Amino acid sequence: MKTILITGGAGFIGSNFIHHLLRRGGYRVVNLDALTYAGNLVSLSDVEDDDRYLFVRGDITDRALVTSLFAEHRFDAVVNFAAESYVDRSIKNPDLFLETNVVGTQTLLDAARRAWQEATRPGSVKPPAIRFIQVSAAEVYGDLGPSGSFTEDAPLAPRTPYSASKAGADLIVSAYHETYGLPVAITRSSSNYGAFQFPEKLIPLVIDHCRARVRVPVFGDGHQVRDWLHVDDHCSALDAVLERGRPGRIYNIGSGNEHTNLDVVRTILAKLDRSESLIDHVEDRDRHDRRLVLDSGRISDELGWKPRYSLDTGLDRTIDWYARNPEWLRNVTSGAYREYFRLYYANRRSSS
Ligand code: NAD
Ligand code: TYD
Repeated sequence: MKTILITGGAGFIGSNFIHHLLRRGGYRVVNLDALTYAGNLVSLSDVEDDDRYLFVRGDITDRALVTSLFAEHRFDAVVNFAAESYVDRSIKNPDLFLETNVVGTQTLLDAARRAWQEATRPGSVKPPAIRFIQVSAAEVYGDLGPSGSFTEDAPLAPRTPYSASKAGADLIVSAYHETYGLPVAITRSSSNYGAFQFPEKLIPLVIDHCRARVRVPVFGDGHQVRDWLHVDDHCSALDAVLERGRPGRIYNIGSGNEHTNLDVVRTILAKLDRSESLIDHVEDRDRHDRRLVLDSGRISDELGWKPRYSLDTGLDRTIDWYARNPEWLRNVTSGAYREYFRLYYANRRSSS
């Protein structure tokens, strides 16, 4: 069985990926997460007693902690999800984004590099197949014109502190491959949605507002275009990269589901039998990217990955998940999830 370090595993995509890995088998998972406002251990309550899973509360910028985890667990692979991830917050507080997203990534790379180099010293045993996946975002490419899509060769042109911090991290990751030969891959995905996503993001926000019958804020005219990726498809793509990806490679992960925000909102309203009069056009986001669409030809051609969900089937699945998990949503909207670690977890594991 391989041992994998998942950082930011208490967040939206990370928690889905941990569920994915434990379901598929073959991995022992160590989840390192600082539990910022975005970290929610309730999302992992069903796996916390699994022998193959260990949660460690800690910061990816904490060099001593990260180094000791590498020494203790001898990771075969790392998938770095940990990040400050909300664009609007980055506009208000860029410092934190640079600290976590750039410095944190470099701290992990350094620990991985040292662990890998020790294992490959002359005379040492066969090197473990350490792989480092940096989970990045379409936003690093900036704003696309009205047509076409970004390939992996598109220039980096980030427009917000969030996207600049993700682009900076990508460059450091590539440099560790070029300079030290670290077997890394960078994945850049489009906008995700699905189970366990906080309702500060568009799709769960609309579902939640429909349930509460309150108005749905649409930024500006709502004609911004996103390539909506169901999180289960993101997980299967990361799995493919982990298993078959080529070191040093960048892989775009998009779904081909290109829709305007207004389309998405209207579709959810219709599915939940709510009137479009709930739509409230509010002031637009600062530096709002108008159109972000990815060309996923490389991952499809090289690794045989294809998304399973159209926006329609993915939304059905997501609406159904939120309907079946009102308790999870209540925990998030009331803020009770922040108590979960203290109430149920702090005394159970020694590694916190
Ligand atoms: P999220 O905000 O839901 O989760 C981030 C997790 O990282 C949280 O659990 C948080 O506690 C943890 N974290 C934050 N700072 C940390 C630190 N310093 N040390 C350790 N843990 C820390 O984010 P998400 O939506 O799940 O996104 C995960 C990754 O995927 C991010 O790197 C993001 O940039 C990228 N991404 C997200 C999307 C999307 O649509 N959500 C799209 C493309 C790429
Ligand atoms: P969001 O869900 O914040 O994700 P991302 O991190 O990809 O920006 O936003 C997705 C799109 O939806 C983006 O164009 C902004 C828009 N949006 C709204 O129109 N209203 C909202 O209340 C939110 C949260 C987002």
